[in-house]
Amino acid sequence: MQAGTRAPAVKRYNEKQIIYGMHFVKALKSSDLPEGQVRKVKLEGREFALVRKDGLFYCIDGVCTHEGGPLGEGVLVDGWLECPWHQGHFDYKTGNTDPETDWVTPVKAYRTRTEDGYVYVEI
Ligand code: FES
Repeated sequence: MQAGTRAPAVKRYNEKQIIYGMHFVKALKSSDLPEGQVRKVKLEGREFALVRKDGLFYCIDGVCTHEGGPLGEGVLVDGWLECPWHQGHFDYKTGNTDPETDWVTPVKAYRTRTEDGYVYVEI
């Protein structure tokens, strides 16, 4: 883009939305993820774990840093997202890990937003 020109505030196409350079991708219908549950979603060839907790949606990388377990198939245990393979604990809000399960290292967390009944993830 040339200096002095401005990008449109919101550009929409298909399943994606770009807002001020951020890249939100439609992940799933919010009604498809019940309260307190975890879902695996694949977006643009990458796996993510979506969590619905207290009415809000959270998203972290979907591949465990230990041996690649599918975090989107995990469960919420004592406030942590627990990996289904060896029970490593991740903070589904930040991607940080539980010091008690030090065999896992943090993953990245992603912003989410909801619109018209769908959850979007910024990737
Ligand atoms: S693969 Fe997740 S704790 Fe081992």
